[in-house]
Amino acid sequence: MPTMGSLHAGHLSLIQRARKIAGPKGTVIVSIFVNKIQFDPSEDYRKYPRNLKRDIALCRECGTDIVFAPSEAAIYPEGCSTFVVESRLVKVMEGASRPSHFRGVTTIVAKLFNIVQPDAAVFGAKDWQQSAVVRRMSADLNFPVRIVVAPTVRGRNGLALSSRNRYLTTAEHEQATILYNTIRAARVAVKNAASPLPSVALRRKLIRLVAQQCLAKLDYIEFFDPKTLESVKRVSRGTHLALAVFFGSTRLIDNGRL
Ligand code: PAJ
Repeated sequence: MPTMGSLHAGHLSLIQRARKIAGPKGTVIVSIFVNKIQFDPSEDYRKYPRNLKRDIALCRECGTDIVFAPSEAAIYPEGCSTFVVESRLVKVMEGASRPSHFRGVTTIVAKLFNIVQPDAAVFGAKDWQQSAVVRRMSADLNFPVRIVVAPTVRGRNGLALSSRNRYLTTAEHEQATILYNTIRAARVAVKNAASPLPSVALRRKLIRLVAQQCLAKLDYIEFFDPKTLESVKRVSRGTHLALAVFFGSTRLIDNGRL
């Protein structure tokens, strides 16, 4: 189960899922590595929260056998110049907003697959596009790894747990519930519609909803096919919605099936 550490209940639920998949005799390995190359230059690599001691204790509590926390130099020794790139699914959403992000993700995940040689790897639905890109990369490069995607864990107010939530002020934290509320509003709209809804109209409505939160600055809202990530003109049951919203310099993402 690959992570960048600073573990929260979302990570822990994935570790527990890995434990179930591995069974009592299997080995659960959690990697903790803040992967510099998946952060864009303007992003928060340096201030990304790190707490290895606490993370190791949490891993132990949820049934981890091995924590793999390599150094920067062990993963990217001087002179390394090879990257793994998925070229189609990365063109939209997170890939469009964060140009070198997925190149960093697919490179580290491919390296981890080679180092650890797992039978299965667990990813969170919270980063839907990431799991689709990893699934594609793994199939395209013939990694013999089963990719498992586990549900998003949310706080009581619906906000998806994220290591970045700690950057939010109290007011921003309250307003950040708008991400999940937007998904819920879209679900209601789809449920009440007699026929598929034009995505342009639904997007306009949801943009207005997000704008009611004075601290929120919308990056994108997309409606897409959950497997191909291709955007759809008409939204109906089973269409997926993803959105990214800034609160100050903190960027939050969420997604859900409508
Ligand atoms: P990180 O953000 O630490 O997340 C590790 C895994 O936990 C990812 O698969 C992510 O989707 C999942 N996750 C995060 N928040 C979650 C939540 N609230 N509910 C369920 N799952 C959640 O994603 C990464 O690290 C990196 O890109 C990585 C894959 C480790 C490569 O560096």
